[in-house]
Amino acid sequence: MYSVEKIRNDFPILSRTVNGNKLVYLDNAASAQKPLCVIEAVRHCYSHEYANVHRGLHHLSNLATDNYERVRGKIRDFINAGSEDEIIYTTGTTEGINLVAYAWAMNRLEAGDEIVLTSMEHHANIVPWHFLRERMGIKLKWVDPEGDGDLDPDRIITAIGPKTRLIAVTHMSNVLGTLVDVKAIAQEAAQRGVPVLVDGSQSSVHTRIDVQELGIDFFALTGHKLYGPSASGALYVKRERLTEMRPFKGGGDMIRDVSKEVVSYAGGTQGFEAGTPAIVQMIGLGAALDYLSNIGMDNIARHEVDLRNYADQKLRDRNWLNIQGNAPNKGAIFSFTLDGPAHPHDLSTVLDGKGIAVRAGHHCAQPLMKFLGVTATCRASFGLYNTRKEVDALVEGLELCRDLFS
Ligand code: ALA
Repeated sequence: MYSVEKIRNDFPILSRTVNGNKLVYLDNAASAQKPLCVIEAVRHCYSHEYANVHRGLHHLSNLATDNYERVRGKIRDFINAGSEDEIIYTTGTTEGINLVAYAWAMNRLEAGDEIVLTSMEHHANIVPWHFLRERMGIKLKWVDPEGDGDLDPDRIITAIGPKTRLIAVTHMSNVLGTLVDVKAIAQEAAQRGVPVLVDGSQSSVHTRIDVQELGIDFFALTGHKLYGPSASGALYVKRERLTEMRPFKGGGDMIRDVSKEVVSYAGGTQGFEAGTPAIVQMIGLGAALDYLSNIGMDNIARHEVDLRNYADQKLRDRNWLNIQGNAPNKGAIFSFTLDGPAHPHDLSTVLDGKGIAVRAGHHCAQPLMKFLGVTATCRASFGLYNTRKEVDALVEGLELCRDLFS
């Protein structure tokens, strides 16, 4: 039985006040709050079990290495990868996608080759491909969503041409909440021999992920959105793709042998994890994944669908709000603007005065803002601890905005 009140008690920050009001935290798409088990895992590690990993022979180093490496299996289970050897630790989705750009695409693509992507992408899934456009002459082929923010997989499939070498697509828009049918895209792409990279930064928080069922080649996720520490994350790389990658970040822990003349690299995922990693953050992410698994991703998804439906009805009843995105399959993320002079920053400031945290701006998705014909929106994004009462608080705050700015 899903008890949101019990879950809320696991998150100490949710009981604080902001500007004299009880905190209503609706900025989960930017970063989620942390449960006690994650805070405790980090504290315990630094207090009792901290040392560098993969390097020492002493007790603490072995302990830290075991704790750190155990998380790979938890990530494998969380996304149902075939093997731990397909999981590269990263600091988040941005690093994961940059890794694919530098280690895979730079090694495989040449001038004139194409990458298909959508106008709904976060900058993390745009800028690395612009690097390749600027530096290697790679072409970017853009696919727009429909007016309601839905993305028919056929739009992507028909964009595939003889020069397409990669499809880089979000699984869930961080602005519109649109869920993209990446399985249908991957099935068709596989027929044409085109790998698919999925930005799972938002989707992995809200839905159960099975990378094998999706049939995709790369999947990037972010730990701090998954209720884990910042600077934690992972990139799933299908085994065949791993053999096509060359290391791009050189340093300690990723080599087999180094001399003054030559260098050889560690095999598998280790070749992509140079330098002292985010040890404690990854251990904290392990605690977050245990926490989510104990609640059950299907239960979390059900709770969030209820919140989405409730918020959808409440917000759409206010016809003075312009809600962006109405895809039939969307998560609990709502972007909106208000008719009249109020900028989304104004809405966010007024809501903050009531203790309600939302994000306002372009959400690192400027091509999407251009497609929508706006420069910015205000965004409320929900997580596993949010309640219908908090939706009501948001609506009340927005009514105050309307009164102030009309
Ligand atoms: N990607 C994060 C967001 O959408 C930061 O807010």
